[in-house]
Amino acid sequence: MTANPTINPDEARAALKWLVDAGADEALADAPVDRFAVAAEATVAPARVAAPAPAVARPAPAESPRAIATAPVAASAGAKSAREAAAACATLDELRSAVEAFDGCQLKVTAKHTVFADGHQGAPVMLIGEAPGRDEDLQGLPFVGRSGQLLDRMLNAIGLDRATNAYITNVIFWRPPGNRPPTPEEAAVCAPFLFRHIELKQPKVLVLLGGTPVKHLLGIEEGITRTRGRWGRYVLNGVEIPALPTFHPAYLLRQPSAKKQAWLDLVSLKLRLRDLGVV
Ligand code: URA
Repeated sequence: MTANPTINPDEARAALKWLVDAGADEALADAPVDRFAVAAEATVAPARVAAPAPAVARPAPAESPRAIATAPVAASAGAKSAREAAAACATLDELRSAVEAFDGCQLKVTAKHTVFADGHQGAPVMLIGEAPGRDEDLQGLPFVGRSGQLLDRMLNAIGLDRATNAYITNVIFWRPPGNRPPTPEEAAVCAPFLFRHIELKQPKVLVLLGGTPVKHLLGIEEGITRTRGRWGRYVLNGVEIPALPTFHPAYLLRQPSAKKQAWLDLVSLKLRLRDLGVV
């Protein structure tokens, strides 16, 4: 790349450093764009320079009209004993112990650890993924592998972190062999614990990472590319909790160009938290 006389290299370096410090250290597009060349073109043809964007664009309100109360729970023996065990828990610590002691899900046989949750129990934001992967199974904590590291950077970019204001769990507590998607039966057996988890945690906002939690908590089967960014409502015992579907960070690692939309979702989350007066 040739140096462009219209751009001060020190300012460009400082701008890049600022972006990296802010957590924007991942590619946004599949192909590189030479911004210096674009800037030079704009200099010789000013008519093509776009109007400056507002500092933070508020995404269009997109409340989902189709959010439903609760997902159906299968009537299997495993789901029944999960329901009884979950209902008997009065605190998150009791629920963790009950999940760890539960033997009604076959995935536990091949898993190394039960992966219950991580983060601050009083956090306003509860994030829900699909199921533990290899790293999570080894460490017994959700989202600690590559996708978890990306998730942490995304949260940090809007002032959230596990130590103070974010709490993370999954629909499924044990790693499916080979990271295959969980079956409907496995999800149904874990569902009573998931519902009780939300009930005891009482988050102000839910963030649903990928299609699996959207399906099981909002009852929406549509793909995540259609549901992301559209606020829904999770209703439990008459209490409505705003729920934001967004891309799973593992998808963002495979499709860096989707990070543009993920960023809009993060901004929407930040604005909702601000409206609720919790950040
Ligand atoms: N993917 C998930 O959905 N959850 C994890 O904990 C890790 C990867």
